[in-house]
Amino acid sequence: MNHDQLIQSALNEVGTSNTIDSLEGTRVKFFGKNGLFTKELKSLSSMPLEKKKKLGIKLNKFKNQFFLLVEKKKNQIESKEIDSKLVKDYLDTSLPARENQSFEAKIHPINQTINEIVSILGSMGLKYREGPDIEDDFHNFTALNIPEDHPARQMHDTFYVKGNKKDSLVLRTHTSPVQIRSLKEMRAPIAIFAPGRTYRCDSDITHTPMFHQVEGLVVDENINFANLKWFLEKFCKIFFEKENLKLRFRPSYFPFTEPSAEVDINYEMQSEKITLGEGSRWMEILGCGMVHPAVFKMSGVEKSVTGFAFGMGIERLAMLKYGMPDLRDFFDGDLRWLENFGFSFFEETDLSWR
Ligand code: PHE
Repeated sequence: MNHDQLIQSALNEVGTSNTIDSLEGTRVKFFGKNGLFTKELKSLSSMPLEKKKKLGIKLNKFKNQFFLLVEKKKNQIESKEIDSKLVKDYLDTSLPARENQSFEAKIHPINQTINEIVSILGSMGLKYREGPDIEDDFHNFTALNIPEDHPARQMHDTFYVKGNKKDSLVLRTHTSPVQIRSLKEMRAPIAIFAPGRTYRCDSDITHTPMFHQVEGLVVDENINFANLKWFLEKFCKIFFEKENLKLRFRPSYFPFTEPSAEVDINYEMQSEKITLGEGSRWMEILGCGMVHPAVFKMSGVEKSVTGFAFGMGIERLAMLKYGMPDLRDFFDGDLRWLENFGFSFFEETDLSWR
């Protein structure tokens, strides 16, 4: 075939392609593995030198021109496709709004509970602190006396963000890393609390992968277990608004406290209804203990001090106080549920006990 004719027909075909597929077909037809020009270029090698040179220049020049043209055509086709998509995806903003959609703005029960905890612990003399949701291995585990091969790491069902060795990042599995950050920054004496989100790879009726905890830490000279008991009793009675609420301290184990305890509160169950502070049934609500010396060491606290720490699940506290049966409702994002269980912006926390 005449080379000029071939060039002309290749240019015509690119010009008339109007989809990405047909453009690709044209490319393959002329410059694919067995393309018409590919064959011509291959046959150059067996030609006499003069002819080879002349034709080689011509064909290679055309090859560049061809691919530039294909690229240009491709951009044209793509922007045309975007334009027609934009026209089709047109949103009719003149449609009338749905009726009865004016909900009163409500505070989510979790936020309400956090607000209450903040005002109670704040007025008991603890300072508000925050820590990052994405924690490093050191603060979430190692500094809390949970070394790499410690079985307690398995207890935590950790979400790893990066790696799973010493330099890994995790979604914090508890608020306890804020103990370390606060000790490192503020040293002793210290009295802080830190509410916030926590994460564990766990999901069923009683667990959601994201939940909330509040951490407490009080460190000074001569802080003892009696101080811890007094503090938690005071907090629970105020929070649950039950002056006769009973607390039971059960021996337990946490790597970062020694001794450690879990705390139960008493309740009574009558026809499916729970009443706190009455009856002789027990329900666990928090973990606590005396700060382990290794925690002070890891945080660089050298003074001879002692302290207590505690951690509570906020959803659990909210469910008990407000009689909400199902944990998963908290995170369904159902506005009707929020209408019903949410709190008005004009209710204030009762601090008359002070
Ligand atoms: N971090 C513990 C947990 O998530 C709770 C805790 C906090 C226990 C502080 C003791 C002291 O289960």
